[in-house]
Amino acid sequence: MDFKNSTILIAGAAGFVPGHVAEFYLRLGANVIGLDNFITGTRTTAELLQTNYPNFTFIECDIIDGLPDFSNTKIDYILSLASPASPIDFAKIPMEILRVNSEGTRHLLDLAVEKKARFLEASTSEVYGDPEVHPQVESYFGNVNTVGPRSCYDEAKRYAEALTMNYHWHKGADTRIIRIFNTYGPRMRPDDGRVIPNFINQALRDEDITVYGDGSQTRSFCFVSDLVNAIHAVLMSDDHTPFNIGNPDEYSVLETAELLIKLLGSNSKIKHFDLPEDDPKRRRPDISKLQSQTDYRPVVGFEEGMRLTAEFFKTLH
Ligand SMILES: NC(=O)c1ccc[n+]([C@@H]2O[C@H](COP(=O)([O-])OP(=O)(O)OC[C@H]3O[C@@H](n4cnc5c(N)ncnc54)[C@H](O)[C@@H]3O)[C@@H](O)[C@H]2O)c1
Repeated sequence: MDFKNSTILIAGAAGFVPGHVAEFYLRLGANVIGLDNFITGTRTTAELLQTNYPNFTFIECDIIDGLPDFSNTKIDYILSLASPASPIDFAKIPMEILRVNSEGTRHLLDLAVEKKARFLEASTSEVYGDPEVHPQVESYFGNVNTVGPRSCYDEAKRYAEALTMNYHWHKGADTRIIRIFNTYGPRMRPDDGRVIPNFINQALRDEDITVYGDGSQTRSFCFVSDLVNAIHAVLMSDDHTPFNIGNPDEYSVLETAELLIKLLGSNSKIKHFDLPEDDPKRRRPDISKLQSQTDYRPVVGFEEGMRLTAEFFKTLH
């Protein structure tokens, strides 16, 4: 694959998933322009990309307010990856989440139309809410509480999907939509509040592992390099309708805690807390659509992925 003559604009490039996506295309020789306002991303990620890749350009900006002037820049692909994604952010910065996925996404879509660039919207498994269909298939419309504590994210992403499809139908935008399921790996925020960083950090410190409810709720965890391969597969596909992307291996939260304690040789004990409101009981992507249309297969197993992630968190301790 040769991307040497391609320019890829990545919104949210200082974030966890977008930073890895940027690195993937930088390694393929693309010119990557990263945008970020650091609301949840880190300067460390932006600096790492700037230091290691001369083909990376970073522009600090808030895409809610508008985009930099690209009138003299050729842009081939626009990846809409800018959005806080962690449940701890839902209570802290709900307006920013609603606005980046609506106003921010609209600015990126307008640019995609102007530049005739292929556009990819990063949606989420959260559009399925607390699903009544398992595993979740793309044709399922979801079970979302529109006025619950997670609605700022779930509904914002549902709106972003609707906006993207309508730009495709009515403004001729060349769009793709991905619904990302739980992803983990190096460069996640340690205080991110999601299961994997929480459990790994607690296990590394021999602290109690906080399991909400009885821990029977399930999650499917995808290692970030597998996710990046899936994003690329969808970007190169011809299908404008949503794709689930993730790893369908499913673990209960309790099982995840026990596996991590064993894997990291930790002395942590498991402690149960009340289940938060609207916490999804089961999550597993049905990725048969992705697998039937592309050669994507997740290859990084739970133990290897957790070991690589723990190595990263150890460097922060
Ligand atoms: N990580 C996952 O498991 C997961 C699951 C589903 C969907 N997603 C989606 O993938 C994308 C990346 O998620 P992540 O987990 O890497 O999150 P992240 O918070 O690490 O990355 C998002 C980046 O967007 C930036 N950003 C947010 N608002 C912005 C704005 N107004 N202007 C400019 N930059 C802004 C943040 O500073 C951050 O660097 C998001 O769209 C998220 O909704 C992630």
